[in-house]
Amino acid sequence: MRVYNFSAGPAMLPQPVLEQARDDMLDWDGSGMSVMEVSHRGKAFVACAAQAEARMRAVLGVPDNYRVLFLQGGAFGQFAAIPLNLAQAGRPVEFLNTGQWSAKAIAEARRYAPVNVIADEAASKYTRVPASDSFAVDPQAAYLHYTPNETIGGVEFGYVPEVGQVPLVADFSSTILSRPIDVSQYGLIYAGAQKNMGPAGLCVVVVRDDLLGQARPETPSVWDYAKMAKNDSMLNTPPTFGIYLLGLVLQWIADSGGLEAMGERNRAKAETLYSFIDESPFYSNPVAPDSRSWMNVPFLVADADLERTFVSEATAAGLTNLAGHRSVGGMRASIYNAMPIEGVHALINFMKQVERTHG
Ligand SMILES: Cc1ncc(COP(=O)(O)O)c(C=O)c1O
Repeated sequence: MRVYNFSAGPAMLPQPVLEQARDDMLDWDGSGMSVMEVSHRGKAFVACAAQAEARMRAVLGVPDNYRVLFLQGGAFGQFAAIPLNLAQAGRPVEFLNTGQWSAKAIAEARRYAPVNVIADEAASKYTRVPASDSFAVDPQAAYLHYTPNETIGGVEFGYVPEVGQVPLVADFSSTILSRPIDVSQYGLIYAGAQKNMGPAGLCVVVVRDDLLGQARPETPSVWDYAKMAKNDSMLNTPPTFGIYLLGLVLQWIADSGGLEAMGERNRAKAETLYSFIDESPFYSNPVAPDSRSWMNVPFLVADADLERTFVSEATAAGLTNLAGHRSVGGMRASIYNAMPIEGVHALINFMKQVERTHG
């Protein structure tokens, strides 16, 4: 039996995608082998990777002057790869700190470059994004990095930071493909696959051409954007299954109406859940209304002793992985693209039942 899986990642995948993968498992593309068993340099897989890239370009709207790279080492790897590729001697790199993932990216960048944190929401306990006019980017900065969606805190930007000519770098791990974005506003976007794109092990980087070719000499070759771009992300063996599955997920998004439709569905899911939480005296969400994530919805119960009961009874009812991040406790419902509105309704019905029993 399939459950409604609210995991923050690796997360729920669309059922039609899993069914296609199942059907392909023993005999992919008439090869008599699974996609995991063929050479990444063979004609069939090269075409599969090219198709995944073409679908990514079409669905996300990637302009021609950007490269799409399929890398490994996760988004965490990019916390290091980005300064190695983009930081330049004598110029700071700048950050907005809006939560635990920004903070980790900052700590990693500090190992490679002088970092300025120009907006810091630690004092608000990461319950909101900074006001768009509350920070100014140094025009000399090599780039500004921010995290459009903080997976743990459930904080999401409703605007794109103003950076002038400074390249804007964004960790889209937990919100990529959840709604339309204008890629041309960014110098570089990156995301681990395991929330909205497919299985863990693949990290997608979309980078503007003019930012290639500036990597420090000591940059590992597999993270050197120019080298990977030149080799179609196949300097070494790429995560073949992840690339194949990404292609299927992108096809599912296209068949579902693309990112406009995805965004409308995600907005409806999030609004439904937040309205219920706000109207209930029993549940609460600490995030400022204009900064609430459409993807990750943390919530608390009035009586913290009930958290464990809530999570275990939810699991028994087929609503899994609702425990909050281990560092913050509480509950968290991650409602990525693959979560249908029916899953949100089932969660709300369950929450009402807990409130009736324990409220
Ligand atoms: C916003 C964000 N950035 C970075 C990461 C780290 O990604 P990875 O585990 O793919 O290295 C995560 C993981 O959940 C995340 O949510």
